[in-house]
Amino acid sequence: MNKKTVRAGIVGAGFSASFHFEAIKKVYGTNVDLKGVHALEGAEAYAQQRGITAYDTLERLLEDVDIVHCCTTASAHESVAIAALQHDKYVIVEKPLTGYFGDGSDDFNGDTCSKETAQSSAMASVERMLEAEKKSQGCILYAENWVYAPSIQKEREIIEKTGAQILWIHGEEAHSGSHARTYAQWKYSGGGVMIGKGCHPLTAALYLKRVEGKARDGKPIRPKAITARTHALTRMPNFRDEGHIRSDYFDIDDFSVMHVVFEDGTIATIFASDIILGGIHNWLEVAANNHRTVCNINPNTAMKAYNPIEANFNDIYVVEKTGTKQGWSNPSPDEDWFTGYPQEIEAFYRTVAYGDPVESDSSLAADCISTTYSAYVSAERSGAEVQIKAL
Ligand SMILES: NC(=O)c1ccc[n+]([C@@H]2O[C@H](COP(=O)([O-])OP(=O)(O)OC[C@H]3O[C@@H](n4cnc5c(N)ncnc54)[C@H](O)[C@@H]3O)[C@@H](O)[C@H]2O)c1
Repeated sequence: MNKKTVRAGIVGAGFSASFHFEAIKKVYGTNVDLKGVHALEGAEAYAQQRGITAYDTLERLLEDVDIVHCCTTASAHESVAIAALQHDKYVIVEKPLTGYFGDGSDDFNGDTCSKETAQSSAMASVERMLEAEKKSQGCILYAENWVYAPSIQKEREIIEKTGAQILWIHGEEAHSGSHARTYAQWKYSGGGVMIGKGCHPLTAALYLKRVEGKARDGKPIRPKAITARTHALTRMPNFRDEGHIRSDYFDIDDFSVMHVVFEDGTIATIFASDIILGGIHNWLEVAANNHRTVCNINPNTAMKAYNPIEANFNDIYVVEKTGTKQGWSNPSPDEDWFTGYPQEIEAFYRTVAYGDPVESDSSLAADCISTTYSAYVSAERSGAEVQIKAL
């Protein structure tokens, strides 16, 4: 078969734009013609380093491409995605799909804002995006890499081939604090760690329950109700900061737990935090009626190393957010692969070129937003159960 060529552009020039670029380089099923990048800040340097063009405006970039990677701060996802869809382009949207970014007032504060307002505004944003998608020849490709992580895809195979019933999923994404400056403020991120990191294991859980329902009964099993707690541990007056954990958050949570009840009565418990030392901690465990799996996304035991002197490993990347390279560690021989980034981007380009079905689509992304903002309402009520609205 002749490979088709897909013309691509990147919006945003920060951390995620970098790993998207690396994943684009690994696409093998299609030829990628990467036209350039557009960003509010950093586009020139990003473009120069990679030998691509920096575009002044999103409009001009959209004219030249079939697909754009939306790697901007979350508060810009809706506007970028809708612009792309209105030009009948495909758009890869980074997580979270969208959210509530305040009322625009100078004194907006995520700690004290009404979480019911946050929920209804976030859902209105989702509806606008889905509406634009319906009218477009393009579509939303939701960049939830956990869906494409090899361990989660292996679990999908087990569920589909054994007809398993998942009784409980528990999982976590945690580390010692996000690097992005804008992450510290609700008005850019749409919330704190519950949405920023919790979205990953949550979406993997929502995905696997969809897979289970479709495999057995031909229809997805959706989330129904949620109980949640959030905390701001690094902002407690008595937090003793020894410099290992990021602690300059303005108005966001740094610890969360979500307990989801699905429409079939089964459950998922999702932890997310910015207070964990020892490197990134991303895992999902599935307790089913006929099997049990532990998906260790990062770290995993593909490799173990003992290094007696820190300086020996100065030039060696070990694993995301590790505090030290001395002693025992679990270097990831291909961290991006275990995390699902190249598989995700390969799959999206196949959708654009050959019409392959999308595993991580806008409907899954919408369930993630609906569940998470219902969780913020629950947390505001100290953990009272809240019903999750389906779109
Ligand atoms: N999937 C993952 O593992 C993962 C990891 C990190 C970040 N992310 C997501 O990626 C997104 C970006 O995060 P990041 O860490 O790359 O942030 P970042 O701060 O490093 O970069 C954000 C970039 O977006 C640009 N930008 C902001 N608003 C824009 C607009 N309206 N138009 C054009 N450019 C705009 C900024 O100029 C900057 O270049 C977030 O949604 C974040 O949640 C995903």
